[in-house]
Amino acid sequence: MSNLASTKMLALQFSITIAVIVLAITSKQSIASEKRHDTVGSIVSLDRATELTHMVKHDCGSCHGMTLKGGLGPSLLPEQFKDKNIEYIKLTILHGRNGTAMPPWKSIISDDDAQWIAEFLISGKINQLNQ
Ligand code: HEC
Repeated sequence: MSNLASTKMLALQFSITIAVIVLAITSKQSIASEKRHDTVGSIVSLDRATELTHMVKHDCGSCHGMTLKGGLGPSLLPEQFKDKNIEYIKLTILHGRNGTAMPPWKSIISDDDAQWIAEFLISGKINQLNQ
C-alpha cells in the first residue's frame, strides 16, 4: 500500500471512529432527556398516576375548575406557581389551608402522591390532557 493510500485509510478510520463516538454520545443524551421528560410519573406507578390525574381533574377540579383555571380556589396552572417552590405546593396539598376551603388530602394520598401532583401541576401537562 502506498503511503498516500494508507494515510487515506487512517483518515477514514479516524472519521468513522469520531462518527461512532458522536453517535454514542448523542443517543445517550436523547435517552437521558427522555428520562428527564418523564420525571412526572417516576415517583409513583403508572396506575397511580392515572388515578391521581383523575383525582386532580375531578376532586381538585370541583373547586379549582375542571380545567384548573380557577373557581372557588385559585388557578392551578403553571403560571400560578412561577414564584412558588414545589415543597410549598406539596405541603398545601397534604395539609390544606387552615381557615380556607382548601382541605388537607394527607388521609388519602401519600407524600409521594402529593409530590407527583405538585410536579404534575407545575409541568402544565394538564393543559395537554384538556385539549
Ligand atoms: C373544597 C374546595 C377545594 C378543593 C376540593 C381543593 N382545593 Fe385547593 N384550594 C382551595 C382554596 C379556596 C384555595 C385558596 C386558599 C387560600 O386562600 O390560601 C386553595 C389553594 C390551593 C393551592 C395553593 C395555591 C397557591 O397558589 O397558593 C394548591 C396548590 C391547591 N389548592 C391544590 C389543590 C389540589 C391539588 C387539590 C386536589 C387534591 C385541591 N386543591 C382541592 C379550595 C379547594
